[in-house]
Amino acid sequence: MERTLVLIKPDGVCKALVGKVLQEIEGQGFKIVALKMIRLEEKKAKEFYHPHKGKHFFPGLIKFMLAAPSIALVVEGKGVVKKIRKIIGERIPEEAAPETIRGQYASDGRRNIIHGSDSPISAEREIECLFHPEEIYSYKKKDWLESEPG
Ligand code: TYD
Ligand code: MG
Repeated sequence: MERTLVLIKPDGVCKALVGKVLQEIEGQGFKIVALKMIRLEEKKAKEFYHPHKGKHFFPGLIKFMLAAPSIALVVEGKGVVKKIRKIIGERIPEEAAPETIRGQYASDGRRNIIHGSDSPISAEREIECLFHPEEIYSYKKKDWLESEPG
């Protein structure tokens, strides 16, 4: 099944938007298969954003990503990469559709609340960067219905 990496960035955590983002993801019917709070350190942040290394905004982006903890998630579902990017919206809030997460909550083109992988290949790299395989769970949504009553 297709997977994507979602990161609620330091501004999303500090602005108490974790619940809203999770509600949005779960509400679309996607399955959360991993979730944790992480405080990125410089090396990890640079590894995560490696494709942007050398660009003018890279140092500022890394500094921002270290400012507070983030929430990292692995989300699974059919077409999840594209669908999550759609829910997230364009990078710059003025360009993001008003119903998207960035359209509603982003402050600017850097402090934009949330990251979502841009392709299944990026997702694979980003998941490996932030999660150990044993932190990712396999389950069916109907599993709890079939468990024995206590
Ligand atoms: P990018 O991959 O262009 O956007 P997206 O997050 O939608 O995939 O850029 C990655 C992040 O880098 C972006 O969310 C915020 C930061 N960034 C800046 O701070 N300034 C910039 O000019 C750009 C292009 C990105
Ligand atoms: Mg990107």
